[in-house]
This record gives sequence, C-alpha cells and structure tokens, in this order.
Amino acid sequence: MATYAPKLGLARDDARSYGARPRGEENALVHAENLTALTALAGPMRGRFQCVYLDPPFNSGRAFAEYDDRRTRADWLAMMRARLVALLPLVAETGAVFVEIDDTELGPLQVLLDELFDAKNRVCTITIVRSAATGHKAINPAPVNVADYLLVYAKDRARFAYRPQVRARRGYDPAYRTYVPDVSAPREAWRFEPLGGHAARALGYATRRDATRELGADHFMREMERFALAHAAHVVRFAQPRYEAVSKEARALIDRSRAEPERVFVLSRAKHKPLVLRGGNRLLCLADKVREVDGVRVLVEPLTNVWDDVPFQGIAKEGGVVFSRNKKPERLLARVLEMATAPGDWVLDPFLGSGTTAAVAHKMGRRWVGIEQGEHMDDLCLPRLRRVVDGADLTGVTRASRWAGGGGFGVYA
Ligand SMILES: C[S@@+](CC[C@H](N)C(=O)[O-])C[C@H]1O[C@@H](n2cnc3c(N)ncnc32)[C@H](O)[C@@H]1O
Repeated sequence: MATYAPKLGLARDDARSYGARPRGEENALVHAENLTALTALAGPMRGRFQCVYLDPPFNSGRAFAEYDDRRTRADWLAMMRARLVALLPLVAETGAVFVEIDDTELGPLQVLLDELFDAKNRVCTITIVRSAATGHKAINPAPVNVADYLLVYAKDRARFAYRPQVRARRGYDPAYRTYVPDVSAPREAWRFEPLGGHAARALGYATRRDATRELGADHFMREMERFALAHAAHVVRFAQPRYEAVSKEARALIDRSRAEPERVFVLSRAKHKPLVLRGGNRLLCLADKVREVDGVRVLVEPLTNVWDDVPFQGIAKEGGVVFSRNKKPERLLARVLEMATAPGDWVLDPFLGSGTTAAVAHKMGRRWVGIEQGEHMDDLCLPRLRRVVDGADLTGVTRASRWAGGGGFGVYA
C-alpha cells in the first residue's frame, strides 16, 4: 500500500525500496518533479515537517552533467515561488525552512521569502564560507567570492524552537586568566590567583616569567590553554553583569558587592546556576565553555551567523558519491538539523541532489522525505542511502552521530 498520496500518482516502488519498513509512514525517496511531489505530500504530511532544507539550482547560468541551471531571473523566481507556496503548508507550526543560495539570486530570493513567510518570521541570514581566496579566483576584478548563504525562516518565529548551538573557538579566551585553587570550599571562601602562575608551576617552572623565557610566549600560551582545559572547573573570569537585565534581588547584591569588592557574594536561583559576584562583577567558569568533540575537549563559543568552520574541501568522497560541485558537506546538514530538529522529527529536502540531507537525517535518527527528479536518484541517492541503512557508509557524520546502520526507506515515484 502506498503511504504517500497514491491519488497523485506517487506509488511505492517495492523493488527500489530498502531495509526495514515501519508500520506507519516511512522515510521516502520520492523520484519525481518536486512541485508534483510537494502537492502530493500536502494531504498526508501537512504541518509535519520540523525542518525543510532547500538547495535549489542557483541559476548559475551553467549546465551541469546532472541538471541544467540556465534560466531567466523571472523564470527562476517563478519556479521558486511555486515550490515555496506548495511546501509552506507542510511546515510544522514550530518548524523552519533553510534555503541555501549564492549571491546570483540572493536579493530577489530574500524579497520573495519575506513576502511568502512574512519578514517578521525571518530568523537569520547565515554566511557560509565555502572556499578560500586561492587559485584562479584570486585574479577576479572584485573581492573573491567565497560564500553561500542560508536564508532561515520560521513558520512562526515566536514558536520556532531554536536549539542553541556552539562551535569550537579558535584560540584561547584570554579573559579566563584566574585560577581558584580550592573549588570544593564554599564559594564565599574562594581565593583567586593568576592562572599563568599555576600553569607554569605545573610545567615545572617557578614563575610564569621563567616559563615564558624558557618556552617562548606562544608555546607557553598553548601549554597554558592545555592546562586550563584540563582544570576547567578551577578557571574563571570576571564579567560585568547587565545591571538592567537582572532581578531586583541580583541588583541589590551587585550594589553590595561593589561596596565590598574583596568579598564573594552568592545568590542562589531556582532556574539558573548561582550568581557569584566579586567587586561588582560576576564570575564565569571555563568549565561551562568546554565540550567534548570527537573525544577531544575543546573550548566553545556560541554559534554566529558566519559559518567558516564547515569545510567544503575534502568532501568529494562523502557518501561514496560524485556530484560535481553541488554536493554539500554532511556537517553542514548536521548543524542545520541540530539547530531545528530533535530525533524522530520529520525533515524534507525537495532538491535532494546526491542525497546528503536524507543520509544525514537518517544517521541522526530523524525521519525524512527527499525529492529528486534526476536520473541520479538511481545512480547516487539510492546506493548512498542503502549504504547508510547497511551501516556501510563510514564517511561524513557517521562517527559523530554514532551511526551503525538500521532502518530503511521506501521509494515513491
Ligand atoms: C544543488 S543540487 C542539490 C545538492 C544536494 N544538496 C547535495 O548535497 O547533493 C539541486 C538538485 O535539485 C534537482 N532539481 C532541480 N529542479 C528540480 C525539480 N523541479 N524537481 C526535483 N528536483 C529538482 C537537481 O536535479 C539537483 O539534483
């Protein structure tokens, strides 16, 4: 029995479907023109997708081996409008849509999205740095173009459930330069000493100056960072609290702390960590900024709207498929899904290409529908997704997602 809209001609192709079939809706590779497919999904999947990722042809004026990308702007915009209108009803009330684009049609697309979603639901515009200023591009008579953009719109911004993300920080945060020798003591009795001295002594030097003279400033800084990460619960910084943004109680304590700058004041709070104050400043602990990434402890900072930490180089073998110039990194999709979905949520990609979104969604335990009209559905998406189901794809985010295989998908055409 077809799960997805048999009336509109999308029937299950059992021969191409693969792996375990659940009782209800299954993950689906839809081999069809996407406007037809989106219309077919409107019945069974209305309001169900927590995240829709679109990576349409950018109107680059080029003909790729797998698809033609040459249209007039008016044609391209009409194509996008029809698909965005068709997919809007499929988005969950708490969901969001991510559209990847380069600067060829960035402006017109943003105007279109502002109109269809309402500008008040625009969440952000992310700049994705996809290459470096090297090679022939460097002789362009303009700044070298190295970016794609991700236009993010919520169905309803007030209800969009953003899951806060962090990224590995480049280099140490020098503001964390204070060390608390005895963190088991009550906070009010904490003593504060320079981090550099402790790191130097741990390296066998009497003082920081000795260590710097012996090792050189850069080497010592790297050693100090290593020491700080290993003893993150002891390492703190002082930061000015936002006086106007805190409670009346906190403001009163800040005033007292300013009046008695050597004393440590602690305010216990029901929903937050205790507020620790000294000299009117609040204490922040390095341990709150450390995460384990692939088994390594790293310093993190909040994710911004410039993503220059997702390499596009070296992805040629991801998924075991070759998709000239257009394949996107699995890590990029993983970040999008981390931001906007939880395990079990539905994810939709109407321009599936080589199957990246479906592969990543599968490895991350999300449910998914991917639509692709090209013949590469058979040559790229199907073998790629079969390998994911078999646990035989060891590339991309497999390890980070602890993916070992399982599940399955239906093919609808
Ligand atoms: C830029 S590629 C997507 C690449 C993909 N994100 C990946 O990582 O492999 C765009 C894809 O959209 C497909 N496409 C374009 N127009 C379509 C349509 N009307 N219906 C279905 N697929 C379409 C193309 O065949 C192409 O595979």
